[in-house]
Amino acid sequence: MHTAVVTIRELDAAEAETRLGELAVILVDAVAHGASVNFLAGFTLAEAAAFWRGQLPGIADGSRHLLVADDGERLIGTVVLSKAPQPNQQHRADVGKMLVLSGARRRGLGRRLLDAVEALAAAQGRNLLMLDTHTGSAGERLYSGSGWTAFGVVPGHALTPDGRPAPTSFFYKQL
Ligand SMILES: CC(C)(COP(=O)(O)OP(=O)(O)OC[C@H]1O[C@@H](n2cnc3c(N)ncnc32)[C@H](O)[C@@H]1OP(=O)(O)O)[C@@H](O)C(=O)NCCC(=O)NCCS
Repeated sequence: MHTAVVTIRELDAAEAETRLGELAVILVDAVAHGASVNFLAGFTLAEAAAFWRGQLPGIADGSRHLLVADDGERLIGTVVLSKAPQPNQQHRADVGKMLVLSGARRRGLGRRLLDAVEALAAAQGRNLLMLDTHTGSAGERLYSGSGWTAFGVVPGHALTPDGRPAPTSFFYKQL
């Protein structure tokens, strides 16, 4: 893995479709390593590919943006910006699927993806961002250290991949 030359870039829907397999590997790897990202243990590559396929219409119509970390050979990280559809929240967006392949973590890619998605949001006129993450996770530390404000913890909000109820921390950032 050549993390020294990793590029953070946006994928359009056509390229995302051709790279569904790589996107699925990143999501399955995250769940297999215990990340609380909406899915449970046993989550398969086919299910992960179906998840990403479901994102394609939003990417195509511009309501959603997919940024990836690309090492030149394969995709090793993702983050998704979903613009709030409500007419009175056109300044807001949600950040999700912040994932770095387990073998490429702690080399700054998560922070680069976060910086890039914040810049993209600002360029899209979305200056209030929200996200949530498993309390105590690496993600929580990343967001806390990147100017995001934690505004609450909901006990038992989601199950861990192995099925235990766990708290979720909610964050926002004004750009
Ligand atoms: C969260 C995640 C994307 C971070 O990716 P990463 O590339 O390892 O992050 P970075 O190397 O840029 O780390 C940025 C900062 O986050 C914090 N951090 C990241 N991983 C950490 C860990 N395991 N333990 C403690 N702090 C951590 C540190 O403050 C780190 O800065 P430092 O390395 O200068 O100390 C990655 O751990 C991941 O994919 N986790 C599984 C999925 C997930 O839980 N996503 C978040 C919820 S959507």
